[in-house]
Amino acid sequence: MRIAMIGTGYVGLVSGVCFSDFGHDVICVDKAEQKIDMLKAGQVPIYEPGLDVLMARNVAAGRLSFTTDLAAAVDGADAVFIAVGTPTRRGDGHADLTYVMAAAEEIAQAVTGYTVIVTKSTVPVGTNRNVWETVKAANPQAEFDVASNPEFLREGAAIDDFMRPDRVVVGVENDRAAEVMAEIYRPLYLRDFPILTTDLESAEMIKYAANAFLATKITFINEIAGLCEKVGADVKEVSRGIGLDGRIGNKFLHAGPGYGGSCFPKDTAALARIGQDHAHPMQITETVIRVNDEIKKRMIEKIRDACDDHFNGKTVAVLGVTFKPNTDDMRDAPSLSIVPALIGGGAKVRVVDPQGKSEGEALLPGAEWCDDPYIAARGADVVVLLTEWNEFRALNLSEIAASMKSARMVDLRNIYSKTTALKSGFETYVGVGR
Ligand SMILES: NC(=O)c1ccc[n+]([C@@H]2O[C@H](COP(=O)([O-])OP(=O)(O)OC[C@H]3O[C@@H](n4cnc5c(N)ncnc54)[C@H](O)[C@@H]3O)[C@@H](O)[C@H]2O)c1
Repeated sequence: MRIAMIGTGYVGLVSGVCFSDFGHDVICVDKAEQKIDMLKAGQVPIYEPGLDVLMARNVAAGRLSFTTDLAAAVDGADAVFIAVGTPTRRGDGHADLTYVMAAAEEIAQAVTGYTVIVTKSTVPVGTNRNVWETVKAANPQAEFDVASNPEFLREGAAIDDFMRPDRVVVGVENDRAAEVMAEIYRPLYLRDFPILTTDLESAEMIKYAANAFLATKITFINEIAGLCEKVGADVKEVSRGIGLDGRIGNKFLHAGPGYGGSCFPKDTAALARIGQDHAHPMQITETVIRVNDEIKKRMIEKIRDACDDHFNGKTVAVLGVTFKPNTDDMRDAPSLSIVPALIGGGAKVRVVDPQGKSEGEALLPGAEWCDDPYIAARGADVVVLLTEWNEFRALNLSEIAASMKSARMVDLRNIYSKTTALKSGFETYVGVGR
C-alpha cells in the first residue's frame, strides 16, 4: 500500500513510522518546514521512546520519507491519513476542525485514482461526512471514500500501543474502503489483534466515549482520594481493593493531581459540547470536567499548606512538569496551573524534567530549570513530586532531606510512603488521598 500521512505530530509520525514498519510505502507530510527538515536529517522532533531507531530503520529500507509537498505525497496514494491537531476551539469547547478541513480541501485537489481518505484525528460525530462533502465539492471527479480510524495510542508507549493495540477501530461505508483498511492493518489482523469494522458515526463516537470514560475513572478515584483524606483511609489501598474486582479493573485508578495532557481535557470538553448541540447534555462528563478543575486547585492548596500557608519567600523544587512521564508534551499539564500559582504567590520555583525543558521553558516563565533533582532540592523549603518519571522513583531521600532548608515533601503521585519519607529525615510528607 502507498500511504500519505498528513501531520507529523505525536500521532501522525508514530503512525507513519509504524505503517512503514508493516511494509507499506509511507510519505509523511507536515506544513511545519522545520519539522520536515529535522525528519529529513534523521532527527525526531518529539520525544517518544524508540521512535528514532524505528524511523531510521524504515528510512534506510526506503519505505519512509518526509515532505512539505502534500500534493506530491497524495498523488497516487491508496490511502491518505489525516492526523492533524483538533485542539479546543477558543471560547466554546468545540473541537477546532480548521486543520482537518483545510487538509481535506488540499487532499481533494491532489487525489488521483481510487483513494481512501482516513481521519485519524479525534473528531466529532459527523466530521467524516463533512470531509466527504468537502472533497466532493472541491473535486467532483475524485474517486474516493472516507474512513474513520481513531487512534488510541498513549504518548510514552506509543509504538507498543500502535504495534500491539487492544483494538483497531475502522468506520467505513462500503466494502471497497473496508478492503483497503484491512490491507493496511493486515499485519495486526494476522497476529489476532481485534479489528472492529463499523459505521462512520460509531467509530467517531467510540473515541470520545473511550476518552471520556477514562477521564471519568481517573476523576472518580481522585474524588475518592479527597474523601480518604477526610476519613483517614488510604486511597492506594482502596484502589487495590477495588481494582482487583474484574468488573472494575486496576488501570487508571492511581490518584494524582487531576488529568491533563493533549487529549482528555479537549476531548471531554468536545464531548460535552456535542451533547449540548444535540440537546442531550453529557452530565457525567460535564461533572468530571468541573471536578477535575477543582482537584487541580486542591493540589495548589496542598502545597500552600506545606509552605506554612504562604508561598512568599519560599523555595519550592518541582520534580516533573510534563503531563506524564516519557514524553516532552506539556499540553494541559498540571504543572501549567501549579507552577504559575507558586510563582504568582511569591515562591522561587526550581523545576527538573528529563524531557520537558524545550517545551516548558517558554510556558513556565520565571521558573529556574535545574539538571537534577538533588540540585533543585538543595536549600528548598518544599519538594513537590509532580510527574512520576522513573528518575524520581528511587531518589536518595536522605540526601535530599539533609540538603533542604526544611525537609517537606508533597508527593502528588504517591510514589513514596510517609514511613519511608519520615525515616529518611523528612519532617513532613503529604501524599494524595492518604
Ligand atoms: N497525542 C496523543 O496522544 C493522541 C492520541 C490519540 C489521538 N490523538 C489525536 O490525534 C490528532 C493529532 O494529535 P497530535 O498530538 O499528533 O497533534 P500535534 O499537534 O502533535 O500534530 C499535528 C501536526 O499536524 C500538522 N498539520 C496541521 N495542519 C496540517 C496540514 N494541512 N498539512 C500538513 N500538516 C499539518 C502540524 O504542523 C502538526 O505537526 C488529534 O486529533 C488528537 O486528538 C492524539
